[in-house]
Amino acid sequence: MHAPLPTTDAKITAHEFCLFFGKIQALRNITLDVRRNSILGIIGPSGSGKTSFLRAINRLNDLHPACHTEGLLQLDQTDIYHPQCDPVALRKRIGMVFALPIPLPLNIYENVVYGPRLGHHCPPRAELDMLVERSLRAAFLWDEVKDRLHTSGLRLSGGQQQRLCLARVLAMQAEVILLDEPCSGLDPISTAKIEEALTTLKAQHTIVLVTNNTKQAARVADETAFFLMGELVEHGPTQKLFTVPDDPRTNDYVTGRFG
Ligand SMILES: Nc1ncnc2c1ncn2[C@@H]1O[C@H](COP(=O)(O)OP(=O)(O)O)[C@@H](O)[C@H]1O
Ligand SMILES: [Mg+2]
Repeated sequence: MHAPLPTTDAKITAHEFCLFFGKIQALRNITLDVRRNSILGIIGPSGSGKTSFLRAINRLNDLHPACHTEGLLQLDQTDIYHPQCDPVALRKRIGMVFALPIPLPLNIYENVVYGPRLGHHCPPRAELDMLVERSLRAAFLWDEVKDRLHTSGLRLSGGQQQRLCLARVLAMQAEVILLDEPCSGLDPISTAKIEEALTTLKAQHTIVLVTNNTKQAARVADETAFFLMGELVEHGPTQKLFTVPDDPRTNDYVTGRFG
């Protein structure tokens, strides 16, 4: 069992959190804190529950009819699974970037403003223009697209599309950014741009990065969690987890002996 970390700056807290899809238990007694303004890396072999954990944080698993949870998952000390928690409002605070970049079939500008325009009041054009520039700059994409904001997002390269998806999350002013293997289909240069963006963005956001690339976690994550078959095997400062892990299974995984 993992004792809760004695931190008061937790943005997300899981305590003995379990997730089931019908009879399948995808997460077993996960207890961990994600520190505000940090990057938590989550590593582990396929099927270990990484995606399920991310989707639990913004309640995307709710869409599965037989999904249920036990234990506690909190955002800012408030229960994410409380009956009064509105998943739509929650998802505005918690943005998600998926492995496959899926821009809307709209131009670059419209992709970024799509979410903010759905809000209660549509910001005036000048405000939207500023939002587009700010979001694209923060996603490290502005310089590459500033002269063609009205071309289709689908005409960008894979790496640019992924940064456009990140810009869309940023335009919603999400507090938490969840990324599920965002660089799995990208070349090293595009990957480096995403990593640079995340490292800058943690000043304003809390980031959870699931990655199938342990080296990526080693490069950008402040803390890393190792998941295996639905359990959290180990969680701690990234450097420690990669150099002197407590659990032999962590050691085997980070040294490439399995997975
Ligand atoms: N929608 C679903 N319905 C049933 N089982 C699921 C569903 N999503 C995930 N699972 C199961 O939960 C476990 C963890 O899966 P997942 O979170 O996708 O792992 P990872 O992202 O680490 O590869 C697996 O056993 C998987 O089969
Ligand atoms: Mg996954």
